[in-house]
Amino acid sequence: MENKKARLLKISILKYDPHVKGDKPHIETFEIEEAPGMTLFIVLNDIREHYDASLKFDFVCRAGICGSCAMLINGRPGLACRTLTAKLDPEIMLAPLPFFELIGDLSIYTGRWMRGLNERLETWIHAQEEIDVHKLEERMEPELAEEIYELDRCVECGCCVAGCGTIQMRENFVGAVGMNKIARYQLDPRDKRSNKDYYELVGDEDGVFGCMTLLGCEDVCPKDLPLQSKIAYLRRKMVEIGK
Ligand code: SF4
Ligand code: F3S
Ligand code: FES
Repeated sequence: MENKKARLLKISILKYDPHVKGDKPHIETFEIEEAPGMTLFIVLNDIREHYDASLKFDFVCRAGICGSCAMLINGRPGLACRTLTAKLDPEIMLAPLPFFELIGDLSIYTGRWMRGLNERLETWIHAQEEIDVHKLEERMEPELAEEIYELDRCVECGCCVAGCGTIQMRENFVGAVGMNKIARYQLDPRDKRSNKDYYELVGDEDGVFGCMTLLGCEDVCPKDLPLQSKIAYLRRKMVEIGK
């Protein structure tokens, strides 16, 4: 069998450390020989190990679970650890996700924004009575549990935020990630907040009525969450409540 020659990848990275005095955004390009099954996680580690020890990027799980490796891959938000180089042209451009605080190079700080969002939307179960940990929880229909679980798969990677035009113009917009969270709690029978309470949280221009249905969020969500249908559902609910 003829051996296919490995491709030479040209990886261009937008480098900039705002904490280093005098540093300016610039692009550095590295050439790496592609290997079978190579992901951008492997590429970036290779670059850091052999060419540029100062390169900053984030990884924790390498399995699409922690959400920390989100970046712009050829201009599109995505998870580097889940991106195979074989799916891309050999010239690859990497840049940090916009909107979030830049730590340096490809490393961004989504934590502050996500924490603020979770506090603002109170993304925890609001039970009517104090939860008795010794008592069995009430049974939930498996279909409903499945539906909630589906929305709970959000890894707070920030891709939908970076892919949304509205959030770039309206900084308090909760984005698809926020609306997905409200849709999740609204489904949960253990959460005793009323629809009016949810309306208080997302029934305005920073919530469902600010969304211009640009659809970028669902296009780029690496967990394939049904963001569009959830936003549309929430909007219908909020219109009913607001009448
Ligand atoms: Fe990431 Fe999808 Fe969650 Fe947005 S909704 S933060 S894209 S996992
Ligand atoms: Fe933004 Fe998604 Fe709405 S991209 S405008 S949150 S449909
Ligand atoms: Fe955790 Fe990529 S390293 S999602």
